[in-house]
Amino acid sequence: MKKGINKMDEKVGKVLISKEQIEKRVKELAKQISQDYEGKDLVCVIILRGAFMFVTDLAKEISIPAKFDFMATSSYGDSTTSSGVVRIYKDLDMNIEGKDVLIIEDIVDTGRTISYLVKNLKTRNPKSLEVCTLINKPANRVVNVKIKYVGFVIPPEFVIGYGLDFAEDYRHITEVRVFKED
Ligand code: PRP
Repeated sequence: MKKGINKMDEKVGKVLISKEQIEKRVKELAKQISQDYEGKDLVCVIILRGAFMFVTDLAKEISIPAKFDFMATSSYGDSTTSSGVVRIYKDLDMNIEGKDVLIIEDIVDTGRTISYLVKNLKTRNPKSLEVCTLINKPANRVVNVKIKYVGFVIPPEFVIGYGLDFAEDYRHITEVRVFKED
């Protein structure tokens, strides 16, 4: 059995995105971002906790000057469905006024979190504001959002691994897997 998965855990399903696929796509995204933000004042805003693993790999591949700051939001609690209420429980430390801000997410699902964050960060007057997500799950969308950089588009399955959790478990699995609900 793979690291991070208890062999008795029947809820851990098939691999949807392999480690190799992630590695390749993260490099491509970082290359694109490095080209697009060349000469700009890039500040990456990482949305905790889910995006921690994605940004660790992405950051290492970004070849231009960049700053990193963190926000933490929560909408899922211990459930597989979004509560619909987005809560910020850690705000940025940096001032993003006049900066070229790129929000880094692990997944955009209903779109509520990213839509809330875009509205919130816009009020701080960044020079530009774009979104990068490792995973886009458009089938569940309830709020329209513009996403500039997407790693993978997936079907409406609840997924875990590579930073994504169910009730805080499974984040350290190295690939993205389907979570089998009861
Ligand atoms: C997850 C994920 C996104 C959000 C996406 O965060 O990291 O921020 O849900 O869902 P949405 O598009 O339906 O709003 P969560 O609230 O589970 O917190 P976590 O990152 O700490 O796991």
